[in-house]
Amino acid sequence: MGNDDRSRIAEEFRSFVEAATGMSSPLYAQLAAAVAEDDRILDFLLSLPRAKQQPMLLFGALALLGGPPAAPEELRARIRRDGDRVRATMLDRFTQTNEPARCAALVTALGDITGPVGLIEVGSSAGLCLYPDRYSYEFDGRPLGSRSAVHLRTATTGPVPVPDRLPHVTARVGIDQNPLDPADPDDRAWLRALVWPGPNAAPRLERLDAAARIAAREPATVLTGDLVDRLPEALDLLPADCTPVVFHTAVLVYLERARREEFAGLVRSLGVRWVAQESAGIVPGTARDLAGPEFFVLSVDGRPMARTAPHGGRIDWLPEG
Ligand SMILES: C[S@@+](CC[C@H](N)C(=O)[O-])C[C@H]1O[C@@H](n2cnc3c(N)ncnc32)[C@H](O)[C@@H]1O
Repeated sequence: MGNDDRSRIAEEFRSFVEAATGMSSPLYAQLAAAVAEDDRILDFLLSLPRAKQQPMLLFGALALLGGPPAAPEELRARIRRDGDRVRATMLDRFTQTNEPARCAALVTALGDITGPVGLIEVGSSAGLCLYPDRYSYEFDGRPLGSRSAVHLRTATTGPVPVPDRLPHVTARVGIDQNPLDPADPDDRAWLRALVWPGPNAAPRLERLDAAARIAAREPATVLTGDLVDRLPEALDLLPADCTPVVFHTAVLVYLERARREEFAGLVRSLGVRWVAQESAGIVPGTARDLAGPEFFVLSVDGRPMARTAPHGGRIDWLPEG
């Protein structure tokens, strides 16, 4: 491994600075900027397989093992002192941030479906986005659904099609290469470690815990494996009388481009509804310039509809959406 790999990792951490700043995590922005310039930490990352060199895996592992480092000096000291445990955690775990607030955009995309809905989430992590009907909402202060422990407030711009009722979900199926169990304390600790420190952390942690309790009470069907390989099988698990909806958030970015195209082709061939929230340009057909790094693009059946805040709270409907 040479200088190219070192530069690639440094560049990834520099890009993360921008994302962390946009997502109100000045601490992670500061840590990521320090990593990008630190040869020792870059060496540490170079000793890991490429897929394990991601900023969130490093910061998540540190957060799990002793809380987020308070400053770059602490990060360096902990890698020196505790590098083996950090490495083992990064090898053992995947970036699996699970954010139930992403359900607010999902319910706006499902509003035109009358009758039962069968949800298939690919890349479901602990499945916390499979319960849009168990959460309650406020869109610009307008309530939707009876009050839940997971209450999602969203500010909107543009003609967001806020429905007047929640979807009637009759089946929930998740597919993940490494499903997390919302009832398992270790998996919950990892999910908590993936929440970025900053002013949004406390409400996110509260929401995460409440959603995990809801999911644990009413477990979804979960298939372990690759989202392309197992999707047809997941579809077979849905009851005949529902509208099948395949959805995903912050997942396709982990696939090679050719595999994303393969997934999109497969979904289109299945005759299902398709709802995605991914970074701009990730779903084939959504243009790269639709949103900045701090936004996802909500697409429905492959058509871009809105810009959404990745951790919820905001939906900007596109004029052409
Ligand atoms: C960042 S998490 C997002 C979780 C959830 N969709 C959400 O928005 O809260 C990405 C998830 O995709 C899963 N994943 C990534 N590539 C996958 C693949 N090829 N097949 C199945 N799952 C995959 C990861 O294991 C992880 O749980």
